[in-house]
Amino acid sequence: MNAMTAMPDILATAFERIQGEIDSAFDAFLPVPDDSRAPLIEAMRYAAIGGGKRVRPLLLAATADLYGVNRSAAVNAGCAVEAIHAYSLIHDDLPCMDDDDLRHGKPTLHKAFDEATAVLAGDCLHALAFDILTQPDTSTDPFVRAELVATLSRASGHDGMAGGQMMDIASEQQQYDLRQITRLQQLKTGALLAASVEMGAVLGRVPPEGRTHLRAYARDIGLAFQIADDLLDVEGDEDKAGKALRKDEGQGKQTFVTLMGVDQARAQAEMLVEQAGKHLSSHGEDARLLVELARFIVKRDH
Ligand code: IPE
Ligand code: IPE
Ligand code: MG
Ligand code: MG
Ligand code: MG
Repeated sequence: MNAMTAMPDILATAFERIQGEIDSAFDAFLPVPDDSRAPLIEAMRYAAIGGGKRVRPLLLAATADLYGVNRSAAVNAGCAVEAIHAYSLIHDDLPCMDDDDLRHGKPTLHKAFDEATAVLAGDCLHALAFDILTQPDTSTDPFVRAELVATLSRASGHDGMAGGQMMDIASEQQQYDLRQITRLQQLKTGALLAASVEMGAVLGRVPPEGRTHLRAYARDIGLAFQIADDLLDVEGDEDKAGKALRKDEGQGKQTFVTLMGVDQARAQAEMLVEQAGKHLSSHGEDARLLVELARFIVKRDH
């Protein structure tokens, strides 16, 4: 156990490694040009480098590891997912969405730059994600590259993250039941987490029929992840979270926590994580990192 982070060493080491790798990858993908686009690329770097936990790249790399995938391929694909995630947070924080001033312990992008730059930086990170996936460094096999693009694009658009964001906005005006909240969370947050696991399997050339247990794991941790985020909003420490908390209720957001209360939501998240680990039992000790990552998802304070 790592005393500083109260997380098992295997997980602390894996986070440290992937965080360094993703920062270096973004640094290499985003040189600042010597022309009037410079503030745009500076803004992309501001949002993409440092700060995030890198849960999605770690999920991807840990899944890829189960199948012996080359590390730089997994890091590239992880960087693509993280580019989509970073863009989603830039847009999520805009005044027309959650109107937040703090992210990763620093001013949100539209506060540090301006709204137009924030919209464009989000657009460009979205484009960068697919550019990375089509590079031969990510896979020399064009079929694998196409499947990576298909997986990430579906998880990002109207059948994924952006569709979930729309449901999240609509939830301010209408009453959702458990089924609708589950759908909202699966799209808004679950889709990109599930895509991370799926892309690890795509790189590992696991055929779709061999991915059922991975999809079951991903579905459970995806829901648990957003329940943990919603619990953090109610009970978390803003300094540790690095973002404004206690906002969901005031904005009229509907979450598992508003529907079932703190205690039942936590019990639900813990049950999901327990169940998630069991789906990987056929991998034995090889799946330890993914099991620990699932546990971290509900215990996290940021
Ligand atoms: C926050 O995601 C937004 C949600 C989808 C709940 P993360 O908690 O993964 O954000 P960072 O990148 O680590 O800050
Ligand atoms: C955002 O969910 C999920 C995204 C798709 C960006 P939240 O709005 O709850 O995320 P935070 O709390 O601002 O990080
Ligand atoms: Mg939001
Ligand atoms: Mg938000
Ligand atoms: Mg939140």
